[in-house]
Formats: sequence, structure tokens, C-alpha cells
Amino acid sequence: MQENSRWHLLETADQVAVAACQHILKAAGQAIADHGKFKLVLAGGTTPEKVYRLLAAAEADWVNWVIYYGDERCLPVDHADRNSAIPEQVWLTKVGIPATQVFPIPAELGGEQSAALYRPIVEAALPFDMVLLGMGEDGHTASLFPGDKHNEDELVHAVYNAPKPPPKRVSLSAKALGNTRELLFLITGSNKQVIVKAWRDGQDLPIATIQPENTIDIYIDQDAFHA
Ligand code: 6PG
Repeated sequence: MQENSRWHLLETADQVAVAACQHILKAAGQAIADHGKFKLVLAGGTTPEKVYRLLAAAEADWVNWVIYYGDERCLPVDHADRNSAIPEQVWLTKVGIPATQVFPIPAELGGEQSAALYRPIVEAALPFDMVLLGMGEDGHTASLFPGDKHNEDELVHAVYNAPKPPPKRVSLSAKALGNTRELLFLITGSNKQVIVKAWRDGQDLPIATIQPENTIDIYIDQDAFHA
């Protein structure tokens, strides 16, 4: 597991969300003070929803936030299972981030085409100010799954055989996801206990391939961490 990791162990998933939200808001203020904007990559799945809901209720300099996605599922634009669905519904439509500063992955176009369209967007954004990521029970993160082979120099991959449905996805690469000033992992729930232990024990997992230069902050609840 990555050496430069800082573990934030909280009692509950709600406390993880509060702590992560505060960290995100602080990082945003610092990035905007430093270079005028906050380039944030959102995590998919269900864990981040609590954080997105807290952000929707927060005060921030939203006009200087720029939103990207770590991965997207190849589903129709308005499909409820898209990774963009939850943040759009509970947060992004409720605050003043300009629509021109929100960059959904056009995964409805299919893997190769949407990866090709998203690559220049990612290239222009790097380095990110913060990347949010979750972790699956098999140690995947974004849509980087165990056993998948990708061109490591790419910034965005087309994924065809994801074991977590749907099989077709688009994912930022480990190289792109690690090119960030800050990286937060959000991990909660007893179903993640076994894989968290494997990660801590040094198992070679996709999540372990995300290796930013700076410290990684892992926000985790007791249920997921329980040694
Ligand atoms: C997705 C996500 C994926 C997710 C993990 C954890 O498309 O599902 O990109 O990487 O972050 O599978 O999902 P949960 O937060 O729902 O456990």
C-alpha cells in the first residue's frame, strides 16, 4: 500500500462524510487562493453521496470550482446509474458552479470515442487539485479493475469487461488520477473490511497503483477498517 498514506479513522460513515467535506472545502479555498480555481475529480459509486449532499449545503466560491469525473459507465446520458447522476442530482444543480466548468465524460458514445474526447480535457486540467476515489470490494478504484491491462501512458482508458456492471466504462488512468495535489479515498461499510485489510497488507490492487507525489488521505469508518 502507498507509503505516503494518512488514515482518518472515524466512527461512522456520516462522520467520514463530514470530515471529508471539510477537507475538500479547505483544499478548495487554498487552490483558489493559489491559482484562481479548484480542479476536482469526483468519485462514482454510492459512498460519496453523503459528501456531495454536505457540499450542496456548504458555502464556497463555487464560481471557481471545475468538476471532472474519475470514471463513467457507458450508459445513456440520463440513466440513473451513471456516476454523474448522484452528484448532479444532490449537489451540482444546487450550487453556482458554471455548467461550462463541469466536464461529464461522454460515455454514452462508447468507450473508445468518449475516451478520445475526454483525453484533451484531462490533459489541459493536469495537475488536478484534488481527486476523490472510492474502492470496490475487489480493490478496484474508478473503473480500474484487477487483471485489466491498459497502456500506462494513457490518460483515459476504455474499459470493456468490468466485473461490476455495466461492463463498458471509461476511466481515468492511474497516471491521470495520481497527477493531483491531493487525493482522498472515501471508504465505508463492513463489506470493504476484507479488501481494506488486503490493501494494508500490501496486496497488489488497482487502488495501490494510484501514487501521487503528495500525501494520500484515506477517510474510512470503523466498519470498513475494523482490523
Ligand atoms: C463505480 C465507481 C467505483 C466505486 C467503487 C465503490 O463506477 O462504481 O467508479 O470505482 O467508487 O466501486 O463503490 P461504492 O462507493 O458504491 O461502494
